[in-house]
Amino acid sequence: MNISEKLSLEGKSALITGGTKGLGKEIAKALITSGADVSIVGRDEETGRKAVEELSKIEKRKVLFIKGDVRKYEDVENFVFLTLKEFGKIDILVTSAGINYREKAEIFPEEKFREVFETNFFGTWYTCKVVGRHMIERKYGKIITIGSMLSFVTLPERTAYASSKGAVLQLTKTLAVEWAKYNITVNCICPGPFETDINKEIFRNPEIKKYFIERIPLGRIGIPEEIGTLAVFLASDASSFITGSAILIDGGWTCL
Ligand SMILES: NC(=O)c1ccc[n+]([C@@H]2O[C@H](COP(=O)([O-])OP(=O)(O)OC[C@H]3O[C@@H](n4cnc5c(N)ncnc54)[C@H](OP(=O)(O)O)[C@@H]3O)[C@@H](O)[C@H]2O)c1
Repeated sequence: MNISEKLSLEGKSALITGGTKGLGKEIAKALITSGADVSIVGRDEETGRKAVEELSKIEKRKVLFIKGDVRKYEDVENFVFLTLKEFGKIDILVTSAGINYREKAEIFPEEKFREVFETNFFGTWYTCKVVGRHMIERKYGKIITIGSMLSFVTLPERTAYASSKGAVLQLTKTLAVEWAKYNITVNCICPGPFETDINKEIFRNPEIKKYFIERIPLGRIGIPEEIGTLAVFLASDASSFITGSAILIDGGWTCL
């Protein structure tokens, strides 16, 4: 098998939580371009509908939107069930659904802290748990969780976000160790700053944007498309000996 055959996702089917926007949608585009059918999940129907319209134009692949909230276990069971009903299998899982809330540690509202953890951590855990059962049965699976460079380093006012992303990385490693015997790989993409809705407010402030760019050795914010190629590699058989890894894609931020 040559390298492009190893990177091909022809005949594969993928489920992407948070695939309706931002980095998740870029990952959906890249997986579709490489040959996969994709099912995307988000809470907002209109955003989901628009994403399907856009993604369906790329290649003749099946693109399915399922409304769901990753914080609710019954929703997770439902979107996994509907994806399996449509595609018959899930080869690739990407857990991109995530939120951020920034506040000083001493006044961080508990309700917001829980919301961040329930989305970023519990949402990832629920989805991996339900899809993992299916992958275990088939003895095949490629799981990609989305951590952050804040799985490693941190910034002020990120107590909830950074803790949740640290937990996502440890979950990833533990699943990788536990499910290796079922031929399932589990890896964590850890992005640095990318301009998407999750941080549009902070990037609207030119001083903050400048501060971020100055801290990045490559001297720029990431372009969402740059996540897609990494996801294809981790979703394909080209990465067959990589599991439990955290792949930083941060322009070098964490080296400083
Ligand atoms: N952009 C960055 O700089 C950056 C850096 C490091 C890590 N990350 C991580 O990358 C992932 C994607 O972020 P992004 O930048 O693409 O943000 P985004 O553009 O805001 O997209 C977030 C996606 O998650 C979905 N989502 C949020 N809460 C959900 C819930 N409870 N249930 C189901 N879906 C939910 C959103 O759809 P609905 O709102 O319609 O539900 C949307 O599709 C996140 O895990 C984030 O932490 C991003």
